[in-house]
Amino acid sequence: MLKEIDIKLTAQVLINQNLYHIPTTFVTIMDISKIRLDFPALWKKWNGKYPIYFDNACMTLKPKQVIDSMNEYYNEYPVCGGRSIHKMAKKVDEKVTEAREKFQKFLGASCPEEIIFTRNTTEGLNLVANSLELKKGDIVLTTDREHNSNLIPWQIQAHKRGIKHMVVYSNPDNTFNIPQFEEIVSKNKNVRLVSMVHTANLDGYTIPAKEIIKIAHEHGALVMLDGAQSAPHKHVDMKALDVDFFALSVHKMAGPTGMGVLYGKQHLLSELAPFIVGGDTVSDTTYDGAKFLPPPEKFEAGLQNYAGIIGSGAAVDYLNNIGLSDIEEHEKRLNTIITKGIKDMPGLKIIGPQEPGMRGGIIAFTVELPKGGDAHDIALVLDETENIEVRSGAFCVHSWFNYRKCEAAVRASLYLYNTEEEARKFIDVLGKTIGLFNP
Ligand SMILES: Cc1ncc(COP(=O)(O)O)c(C=O)c1O
Repeated sequence: MLKEIDIKLTAQVLINQNLYHIPTTFVTIMDISKIRLDFPALWKKWNGKYPIYFDNACMTLKPKQVIDSMNEYYNEYPVCGGRSIHKMAKKVDEKVTEAREKFQKFLGASCPEEIIFTRNTTEGLNLVANSLELKKGDIVLTTDREHNSNLIPWQIQAHKRGIKHMVVYSNPDNTFNIPQFEEIVSKNKNVRLVSMVHTANLDGYTIPAKEIIKIAHEHGALVMLDGAQSAPHKHVDMKALDVDFFALSVHKMAGPTGMGVLYGKQHLLSELAPFIVGGDTVSDTTYDGAKFLPPPEKFEAGLQNYAGIIGSGAAVDYLNNIGLSDIEEHEKRLNTIITKGIKDMPGLKIIGPQEPGMRGGIIAFTVELPKGGDAHDIALVLDETENIEVRSGAFCVHSWFNYRKCEAAVRASLYLYNTEEEARKFIDVLGKTIGLFNP
């Protein structure tokens, strides 16, 4: 593993030899060329070219700081936490506590006990869906563009417990329809939970969460936000939002794979039934019963992904060092360049609000080319020709696509290490790719 000094030297050598992929323009306060040096995956050439990684909504790349922190665990104290009293185990406990406290601050939670480590957003959402006391006839309200992870759990609960899942349909430009939402919650007295995607992976649009939460609370409903695409890209504050539950995936915020966080207000977490149960969720058992520990232990069953938890703490440090508001601004600026380029390309239609500032770091578009070529063809050519890695398909929001009788789209999703040069290259190659299908 390279040390800080080696990294700097290596960078200089690469830059001198014109081998390193640095942006040509620097209008940003973030030093992107320096940031890029932290991400080893950006240094590896594929077929002789560096990758242009635009699939960040799926998973982000990992900086060496995160990788190093996990290697430290594996090299120095690769043991279990929460149980044994020897030195290595105590070190793990110390690191896990640190990571939990980092997330508490990152999310503006009231105490570390409000932070539950999970595998991902999906697990956090499923935990609440399974453990929240809901009875037959209770309504759970979602938007019309939920990731399957915030749709299927409610369909299952409808089947199992007889709850009712209702949908707030978006405005024609895919923005949130507040009047319709207000009408549903005021007319249906048994709306128990509003569970909505905070920033959509479909189009990058962020719902007016604060207003929604205020209205929901006025009508006695709890609110859970799917923060998979918001927490990695903008500052989110649990107390300021007054949100009841919030789920995120650490692997989408420069952190390790297989790691997520569920935030919940302390009193609500205490009231939730246990979900996955077993070792370390209890203080005592008999043949007839178990005494559950308070959260977070109640929800962190079995030996944990300690390396992942430690790496997650390092990811928080990494993002904090750069600053979430700078990251947000940077992505919007790149999105503006891409939107301008795509707007007039024949056959491409941007999903969601047309104003790039309303779509954060995501730009998704449908493809309808008169002489053929679909979203997957476009994605494949982008990758084959210039290593431009985007996503094609329904992005796990099949319900939205099915409702509109549309099969698939292409999505470019940005993060802190992407450059203006990459954005321009993407537009250039995309234009040529479309040209291939429309000679
Ligand atoms: C908005 C949204 N919600 C939920 C998920 C599920 O995340 P995970 O697969 O990490 O559980 C994703 C993943 O892309 C997402 O974008």
